[in-house]
Amino acid sequence: MKGLGLEREEGRLVLRDFDDPRVLPLSVDFLSPTLLHRLRHGLNKSQPMARALGLRGSAAPFVFDATAGLGVDAFIMAAYGCRVRAFERSPEVFQLLEDGYQRLRAHEGDERLSEIASRLSFEHGNAVEILRALPPSDAPDIVYLDPMYPEEGRSKSALPKKGMQMFRRLIGEDQDVNELLAAARAAARERVVVKRPLYAAQGDGVAHSFEGKTARFDMYLRGR
Ligand SMILES: C[S@@+](CC[C@H](N)C(=O)[O-])C[C@H]1O[C@@H](n2cnc3c(N)ncnc32)[C@H](O)[C@@H]1O
Repeated sequence: MKGLGLEREEGRLVLRDFDDPRVLPLSVDFLSPTLLHRLRHGLNKSQPMARALGLRGSAAPFVFDATAGLGVDAFIMAAYGCRVRAFERSPEVFQLLEDGYQRLRAHEGDERLSEIASRLSFEHGNAVEILRALPPSDAPDIVYLDPMYPEEGRSKSALPKKGMQMFRRLIGEDQDVNELLAAARAAARERVVVKRPLYAAQGDGVAHSFEGKTARFDMYLRGR
């Protein structure tokens, strides 16, 4: 993690690039104006992620998010009404998540945010191992995966912003995606959803793909 480190700044934990002060620090902020705007104006069940998760009417499945990252997708799934158990294996990213989650829980006066927080949990660990060891009574309806994808194939105009490049430097590539997908498919009661960039090759066994503007959500059904 050369040049990168965590520090406390204005009441929050941030990941900073100490080699390049121009790079904006990264933090987990469930109360950011962008996320709150998305929550209030940009969520509906016709969106690709919701369709891939099979969310219709009042369906509120139990989702195991095996690649929590900065927690945005977990938060959105909880906002859709899902109960979300999210895992992150990087100790630094997990600290950022815990910090953001504590600030979400401490926020008062917004019942919807309190409900979302109560449906979410973040844990530190390698999801491959956790999924393999899950007793049937804890099996999720859905396993959701959003692994770090190799850069090759990405167009120059779609290069990630500097903050995300820093995140990529911290995490690298997720090399064990195949093991993770196999463990997810063995553990999920109903389906597995994998978020992939649009330039990613089509994988085997995908029952249906739901395309968004920057990513697609590949859905695998149990037992197929
Ligand atoms: C692309 S990011 C996920 C972003 C996330 N969906 C969000 O909305 O912020 C991938 C994350 O998954 C984590 N990860 C990858 N494989 C994992 C595993 N087997 N167990 C736990 N975390 C994993 C990586 O450390 C990284 O933080």
